Amino acid sequence: MRIGIAGLGTVGSCVYAILIEKGDEIEKRSGRKCIVSKVITRTHSKYEKLGIPSDLIAEDFEDLIINSDIVVETIGGTGAARTLIKQSLDLNRTVVTANKMLISEFGNEFTSSSPTKSLFFEAAVGGGIPIISLLEDYLIFHGIKRVRGILNGTTNFILSEMLRGMDYAEALEIAQKKGYAEADPSSDVKGYDAAYKLSVLMGVKTGIFPGISNIETTGIEEINKRDLERAASSDKKVKLIGTIDFEKGSAFVKPQEVERNDPLWSVDGVENAVEVETDLSGRFILRGEGAGAQPTATAIISDILRASRYAEKQNNSVVIMKFGGTSVDTPEKIRDIAERVQKKVISGVKPVVVVSAMGIETDILHDLAIEISSRPNGREMDMLLATGEQKSIALVAMAIQELGMKSISLSGNQARIKTDSNFSNARIVGIDADLISRHISNGYVPVVAGFQGSTYTGEITTLGRGGSDLTAVVLAKALGSQLCEIYKDVDGVYSADPRIVKDARPIKEISWEEMIELSKQGAQVLQSRASEFARKYDIKVLVKNAHTNARGTLIWRGSKVEQPIVRAVTSDQDIVKVVLQEVPDRPGIAARVLKTLTEQNVNIDMIIQSMRSGEFNTMAFTVQANDLAKLRQDILKARSEAREITIEREIAKISIVGVNLTATPAIAATLFETLANEGINIDMISASNSRISVVIDSKKVHLAVNAIHSAFNLEEIA
Ligand SMILES: NC(=O)c1ccc[n+]([C@@H]2O[C@H](COP(=O)([O-])OP(=O)(O)OC[C@H]3O[C@@H](n4cnc5c(N)ncnc54)[C@H](OP(=O)(O)O)[C@@H]3O)[C@@H](O)[C@H]2O)c1
Repeated sequence: MRIGIAGLGTVGSCVYAILIEKGDEIEKRSGRKCIVSKVITRTHSKYEKLGIPSDLIAEDFEDLIINSDIVVETIGGTGAARTLIKQSLDLNRTVVTANKMLISEFGNEFTSSSPTKSLFFEAAVGGGIPIISLLEDYLIFHGIKRVRGILNGTTNFILSEMLRGMDYAEALEIAQKKGYAEADPSSDVKGYDAAYKLSVLMGVKTGIFPGISNIETTGIEEINKRDLERAASSDKKVKLIGTIDFEKGSAFVKPQEVERNDPLWSVDGVENAVEVETDLSGRFILRGEGAGAQPTATAIISDILRASRYAEKQNNSVVIMKFGGTSVDTPEKIRDIAERVQKKVISGVKPVVVVSAMGIETDILHDLAIEISSRPNGREMDMLLATGEQKSIALVAMAIQELGMKSISLSGNQARIKTDSNFSNARIVGIDADLISRHISNGYVPVVAGFQGSTYTGEITTLGRGGSDLTAVVLAKALGSQLCEIYKDVDGVYSADPRIVKDARPIKEISWEEMIELSKQGAQVLQSRASEFARKYDIKVLVKNAHTNARGTLIWRGSKVEQPIVRAVTSDQDIVKVVLQEVPDRPGIAARVLKTLTEQNVNIDMIIQSMRSGEFNTMAFTVQANDLAKLRQDILKARSEAREITIEREIAKISIVGVNLTATPAIAATLFETLANEGINIDMISASNSRISVVIDSKKVHLAVNAIHSAFNLEEIA
């Protein structure tokens, strides 16, 4: 299990230290290997102080989440911690937290968005007292009638000191000096801390966290020495007690007098105690240290072990690592891949590697075939092309074995990737992942040939250009893996083409819709079929640099946002505009034009019909330049009854891609204004919620893309 720790304060640093120092012992006793895979905190000097190696330091929350199976939140508060937990659950991670305030107030939000058991918070209530495990596990089939207890060590310490003769202010000062009370003690002394804990316990029992506004709460500020003396004269003590009466449906925190025969009577100092009354087995009492680094960290570790049972089922630890042809074109690069794989294995991940053919091997094989036959037979062509990956998988497997790991190469056929018989552009129709799963369970790193499969009759097939991406995401789905890493020669998906915009930045996260739009606009990051597949099956893809440790771009369902976000600007100069001049203004003509284009298999992108002039309209649409050869202009001219068809080549399409772009006209207004300020005319416009495109003069592309990139501050927010 890979453990990511956010927050390295009192509790977080203790969790880190225990996992590092006692990792082997924990594994021996629990049978579970827990490896710290990433950490993050605000003050960077803490990393050095705790001796944390630089490759464990996460760049941001997403980097931590993606590289962990279990996320431990020890930041505290309800700001960043809430964001972290939401993102972690969204990304199907299991979360362990000690944050009572957050669970009390936002527990319902977390559990509603994550129906399976993914949130653990033992440390939030009793520090080292395992009250939640008692309720959730041991007493699971009991009816819980009542829970009452001393849930706040600070107030219990103050009341104990007051009983020894101190007044409230003196006792509080000592508590602060000893580190039992914070500089602002109000949450403790007003009873809110105990109320948060009651709210958490109610959530554990009922599934709904009521929050503290529904819990009647009185603190200890009004208690004076005389109250305690009066109680003592009748052999009683005053304690701040939180009570939930499930039968009556009531919950409250208030100072109460307890008698000598009450199990809470002898609980003094910073100790906590909880009494649980059940229908079947009477009363249970838990008593111990309710806070402090060690007890709280211990509760967190025990949650990690409980959580690992659930996290294992999610198979987050199987990660697909796909490397393209340029990453395997030399023995050095193949050895680099093996080292990357080794690092993953050490961090607790079970990698499945997918590789393409080395460098330009596929092109070489293709050219070779053309030398023999100008129209090679499809079956033989696929038989030939598939040998490219067979070479690279064997070499990568050997390199992994050289580092002392077990590895096995598998062709598409051996990996049981089943396709139809559409040679050179086959569709995957099924995959039997049992064999690969068995290899993984036996400790092997499977290295699978991308871009290929076989039919049910055993014919070798290939999947078309970029097909290794498809192999990778399909394997991720078949193996139940949540993450597919696609390694490239760049740091991720960029806010603009870096060859055009020097300030272009890798985008941290992007949704499937945006990625598909970007691919359509010419970004060659991921094969479009692979993108569609990943969207359909909710596979998260991380596009990373094969040669650096940059965090990469996460492509996934996307965070739910309401405000518009512009993420990238793209340009496409491989388009042409087809203009149908003087088309008769009659119903049905436009439909005829589109039908003709469909018959000719010509995909159009933007379409515009100008204002009617007399009895005629002008109709124009853009097509990809290489589709123009398919366009039979004579037929189109006849069917549309256009006077003439002209082709404009000096055009380019500029698009901004993002989320909710049409939610406000301000985005389009900024785009048009920016172009106007640069003196650039807009020829055509089209818009969807995730893209706004304009057609402009191709000579102005650099100017336009740079101006738009800076108008939307993409160099900062990417
Ligand atoms: N301490 C206890 O005895 C105890 C007992 C039970 C439960 N808890 C709960 O455990 C949690 C942590 O308590 P603690 O005592 O360990 O608190 P703490 O000492 O204040 O530690 C919080 C840590 O979070 C880091 N942090 C804050 N904001 C961050 C952000 N945006 N990104 C990354 N790191 C951030 C802080 O970094 P900097 O130091 O650099 O600011 C600090 O290292 C709280 O929810 C608390 O209620 C604590």
